Amino acid sequence: MTRTALLAFLFLLGTALPAQQTLRTLHSPGRQTSVSVGLNKQGEVFFRITHQDRPAVDWSRMGIMAKGYDFSQGFKLVGSATRMHDETWKPVWGEVAQIRDRYRELEYRLQNAAGQRMTIRFRAYDEGVGFRYEFPAQNGLSAMAVTDERTEFQMTGDHTAWWIPGDFGSNEHVYSTTKVSAIDCTPYERERNISTKNIVYPKNVQTPISMKMADGTHIALAEAALVDFGALHLEADTAKLKFKAFLIPSVDPAIKSKNTVPFHTPWRAVLLSPDAAGLLESKLILNLNEPCKLDDLSWIKPQKYVGVWWEMHVGIASWDYEGTQNAAANSGARHGANTDNVKRYIDFAAKYDFDGVLVEGWNVGWKNWYGQWNDEVFDFAKPYPDYDTEALSRYARDKGVRIIMHHETSSAVPSYERQMDAAYAYMNKYGMNAVKTGYVGKIIPRGELHDGQWMVNHYLRVAERTAKNRIMVNMHESVRPSGLHRTWPNWLACEAARGQEFNAWSTGNPPEHECILPFTRILGGPMDYTPGIFEVRMSAYDPKKKEVVHTTVAKQLALYVTLYSPLQMAADLPENYEKRLDVFQFIRDVPVDWDDTRVLQAAIGDRITTARRQKGTQNWFLGSITDENPRDVEVKLDFLAAGKTYEATVYADGPDTHWETNPYPVAISKRKVKRGDTMRLKLAAGGGCAVSFMQTR
Ligand code: NOJ
Ligand code: CA
Repeated sequence: MTRTALLAFLFLLGTALPAQQTLRTLHSPGRQTSVSVGLNKQGEVFFRITHQDRPAVDWSRMGIMAKGYDFSQGFKLVGSATRMHDETWKPVWGEVAQIRDRYRELEYRLQNAAGQRMTIRFRAYDEGVGFRYEFPAQNGLSAMAVTDERTEFQMTGDHTAWWIPGDFGSNEHVYSTTKVSAIDCTPYERERNISTKNIVYPKNVQTPISMKMADGTHIALAEAALVDFGALHLEADTAKLKFKAFLIPSVDPAIKSKNTVPFHTPWRAVLLSPDAAGLLESKLILNLNEPCKLDDLSWIKPQKYVGVWWEMHVGIASWDYEGTQNAAANSGARHGANTDNVKRYIDFAAKYDFDGVLVEGWNVGWKNWYGQWNDEVFDFAKPYPDYDTEALSRYARDKGVRIIMHHETSSAVPSYERQMDAAYAYMNKYGMNAVKTGYVGKIIPRGELHDGQWMVNHYLRVAERTAKNRIMVNMHESVRPSGLHRTWPNWLACEAARGQEFNAWSTGNPPEHECILPFTRILGGPMDYTPGIFEVRMSAYDPKKKEVVHTTVAKQLALYVTLYSPLQMAADLPENYEKRLDVFQFIRDVPVDWDDTRVLQAAIGDRITTARRQKGTQNWFLGSITDENPRDVEVKLDFLAAGKTYEATVYADGPDTHWETNPYPVAISKRKVKRGDTMRLKLAAGGGCAVSFMQTR
């Protein structure tokens, strides 16, 4: 007996399968997936998902527990209905110009032993399944304190999984690749660079998690439209090869979420694809989110930016002003956000056509900003004495550039909420229409968590309030995205994972990191990864430093294509770009908004090759990246428009390039190409290749 068959047998012994009369099966419109749901003798709900007629999630339990209420057993089926939906919508910005939202839906209406009602809504797409729990208005149930979600996902084998620990305080971890049976977070105890690290359960992992089955099928477990609820983590049962939902708690560890009836949970999403590329092309998470809530979109603009930022991370400048004023205490770093330095960045942005200049460290509060858990830290309308907001806003406006505001909150969140209106008014007064927020450190209200219900609602309040003020927002250290940028397209990006900054001051991001992010964290929405580092060795700033960026320079270029975001930073210092303007040309050319995207080749943790068509043109851009292994990649140029000629500019690793020993060479070559041609790319260890295809006629 195979292990799977044995598990299925043991399962049958333990739990009677759903009774026939309660069983409902929903097929996706193209019959690629199906989901079945039913009740067993105890009135417990179970579901099962198939993909291309093979089980993808075997019979798994469902249910919600709340204080005083049990929505996990004693159910009877009181009704069910199905409907079909097929609609095509246009995202405000994105990887493609339009998205088809086509599914069949099943409403499965239940009543528990105490007479309370709950509906489970399923949507079957050809690329996966979504479901959520709904609590309709009813007598005797007006509020719920949710204590647990009983949803399980029974895997059909010991799949290979890419995961990070279900840390309560951070999602900035390096990914692990293990079998489901080997999930174990204890090695993460050695991680020293994440000060808010708070790993409570050794088998708890974050969503999205992606897995590859023995037959090559890929499955990702995620959530969509995370609103008014704790974020979804998964508790791995490494013996039974299943996951159980785990909701991030509130200040009271026993209570995961407090909700007023009627309400519904976020969607639980199961993405399915015959290959890894299909996961990247899936629009399931976006489709499960609500349509755009904004009428006037004229002020929302995907953009590239530079900033007074990397110089602090590499240690040659500081965020705070105070320390730089006292020669004795001064470590040698200057205050980065001084008027002259910011002008230099504005000049650079104007010269090379960047939209924005991020300025960190401009406002009062950076002295002891971090690790104090203080109620009040920053003033969001008070610049340091060497930063002239008014003069700089004029200077930027005259040069056609916008300053991007920075609101590091230090996680003193009520203080930020008190100041929000004034802070956004200040931005509007000085012509700023984009803000980067940040949540470093432990949350206030004390005891709340970065991914708990209270903070989830805070991030949404920020998205709404910024929208009201016609401001775009980019959040760092927030909960990871769940597709809400469909609803709030001013919410351009989040960090919410281990970003480039870790390469500047820690053990960094291993070469495979960027080959995993798109299959996990970025499934839910764009990431502000901040690519584009040309000076990849920190010893250039201080000979004592050993930290390096774990990629070649060519790979840094390719990331602008492989890591999708409508907001991309050219993160390095202007002087590093000025030294290599020929290489920098790719960053100048690459757009941030697309009409079409093709994932040409992908293997999680190994490699990704993606081609995208620039919005409103026939120009294409290609990025190809690898992990620590060198690779030869053959690309068929089938995506180019027929009958057109293109000039391709190839930015490749040099012949002896290697991320560790020789990361700098970028071989630039130009050639004429057309649809149907084949291109051979050589990727170095930790390397990549970027290509622009400009239509010439
Ligand atoms: C962490 C953010 O990720 C980083 O981008 C920022 O520079 C620092 N916090 C300071 O706010
Ligand atoms: Ca961060």
